[in-house]
Amino acid sequence: MGHPTIFLLGATGYIGSDFLVQLGRTLPHLPVYALVRTPSSERRAWLSATHPNLTVVEGTLDSVEVIERQTENADIVINIASCDHVPSSQAILSGMTKRSAKKPGDPPLLLHISGCGCLSDNAQGNAAKDLKIYSDLDLDLELLPKGNPHLEVDLPIFRANGRKENPIRTAIIIPAVVYGVGTGIQKTPTWARMFLQFTKANGHSGTFGPGLNSMSNIHVKDVTSAILAVLKVALEGKADEGLGLYFVACNETRPSWHDIASAMGDYLYQKGVLPEPGSHPFSREFLDSMRTTDLSHDGHSEGWSELGSNQYAKSDRLDKIGWKPVETMRNNFLDALKESLDVALQA
Ligand SMILES: NC(=O)c1ccc[n+]([C@@H]2O[C@H](COP(=O)([O-])OP(=O)(O)OC[C@H]3O[C@@H](n4cnc5c(N)ncnc54)[C@H](OP(=O)(O)O)[C@@H]3O)[C@@H](O)[C@H]2O)c1
Repeated sequence: MGHPTIFLLGATGYIGSDFLVQLGRTLPHLPVYALVRTPSSERRAWLSATHPNLTVVEGTLDSVEVIERQTENADIVINIASCDHVPSSQAILSGMTKRSAKKPGDPPLLLHISGCGCLSDNAQGNAAKDLKIYSDLDLDLELLPKGNPHLEVDLPIFRANGRKENPIRTAIIIPAVVYGVGTGIQKTPTWARMFLQFTKANGHSGTFGPGLNSMSNIHVKDVTSAILAVLKVALEGKADEGLGLYFVACNETRPSWHDIASAMGDYLYQKGVLPEPGSHPFSREFLDSMRTTDLSHDGHSEGWSELGSNQYAKSDRLDKIGWKPVETMRNNFLDALKESLDVALQA
């Protein structure tokens, strides 16, 4: 029997390209088919230098026939492109169903990367009313507020896990807010790029509402080590996939967004990018007019419920398989900001 094949979406992104670096180092023998929307010669060269067994599949998330076909041909699908794009996630589930029907007794595996926006308390920039830290061991996604980010895509995947007819295995890996400089093509997170655009547009650093909200967080290197850890236990048949949720989160430091925005404002002022240090709230009119559609990878997440909320999670299931956050403990959210801003400013 040959090696299991992987269909990877998001190989050129912040998390996805950092993950590909790790995958190329640790599992270079696994054939990877990577969906890439703009496969320039530069990108092709980086991708094949990073993973020796990689084939580029040209397409966007709207290329649903391509996605369904590639999924049908893969043992494992890893989606690090979007947790909000409905047609591509439906194409993945449909391709997996077809594969399962074709190969009874050998259910395909989906590692779907989502985000803790699903836990949003929609606090409008205020501090949390209660400090509930969600555990992935007992969270029922069905019970979260229906309009919260990512659930439209996550719920069908959650429901499909372990079903009897045409069975498939799904693990939804849910990182908290991700920070730090990555090792791949895209080195900085979307939210940092977005904040930088907001600060430049407004002439000051700022927050959604008062910015007293805070979130569990995690360094990008720990996110990719977590995805790899889940992949490895799944390949070994040891994954606890009954519930299928894996939070990737750390609560060692949980700065408020006011603290984060102020540190950013101070540094950008020091660099001569902004005319004033510190931060004060962005105007409601400005934020309402700036759907993250214009700025983000997925075009759906609204800034208020993402960046104006409190989101607390703990990685109990990853803990059970021996994963620990390493880089997050060495280089916390606030300490890592300056380096991220330097990189984002050069981009
Ligand atoms: N960063 C965070 O703080 C964070 C936290 C929790 C969860 N997440 C989730 O993790 C996932 C990845 O996030 P990220 O920060 O790595 O995002 P990112 O840097 O924007 O990367 C997204 C990847 O998906 C590809 N992609 C996006 N839209 C596409 C389309 N229409 N067609 C084809 N390819 C498309 C991008 O290709 P290009 O290179 O061509 O743009 C890129 O490879 C997202 O679902 C995000 O919501 C992120």
